[in-house]
Amino acid sequence: MVNEAQLVRNFTDSRITNGVEMVRLLAVSGSLRQASSNSILLRAVEHLCPEEVQVAHYEGIAELPHFNPDLLENPPESVLALRAIIGQADGLLVSCPEYARGIPGAFKNMLDWLVSSEEFPGKPVALFNASPRASHAQAALRLVLETMSASIIEQASITVNLLSSQSSAEGIAADPVMGPLIRTALGAFKRRLETQEP
Ligand SMILES: Cc1cc2nc3c(=O)[nH]c(=O)nc-3n(C[C@H](O)[C@H](O)[C@H](O)COP(=O)(O)O)c2cc1C
Repeated sequence: MVNEAQLVRNFTDSRITNGVEMVRLLAVSGSLRQASSNSILLRAVEHLCPEEVQVAHYEGIAELPHFNPDLLENPPESVLALRAIIGQADGLLVSCPEYARGIPGAFKNMLDWLVSSEEFPGKPVALFNASPRASHAQAALRLVLETMSASIIEQASITVNLLSSQSSAEGIAADPVMGPLIRTALGAFKRRLETQEP
């Protein structure tokens, strides 16, 4: 079981663990809600990812200032920290809710800070979705990410129906439908990151 205190918020200094080179995934939830279904989905990943995968969770969205191009010349510390952890990640695992048929403002604000960064373009992204109803936000997210030159990995992008479910991360991982779906997506993402194929 992975609780709040055990959540990894940064990658380890070395990529090598027990002699194995780790693939680094950065999980980013688009929801600030404590009991967020999108965040819980990303925590379930901890229970299901292949051994050679290290998952860190970026949880600094609420600390980012409102995007202002005037600040790009001398970006705030929180933005530099965001860019640094994006740069360390081999791939991003994004799970984002839909608000008023769009991308939540706080998450879009984070993306805006990454538009002109060196770290983001070309970054492989797996899009997880905790709601089959969130089609507008998913479409908008794809458009934005593609505009930012992200590489969306389709085989690793899945919808897991957590609507009206009170699932915990462990419950999702143990579920006979959701568990294998997530595991397969993670396996496909890892293979894609290892081969570096387009
Ligand atoms: C202000 C607000 C607007 C919402 N708008 C939509 C919407 O347009 N479409 C939709 O499918 N769900 C909408 N929802 C429902 C959320 O997407 C849903 O509660 C989701 O579980 C939130 O993600 P979270 O559990 O990760 O916080 C909205 C919720 C809120 C609070």
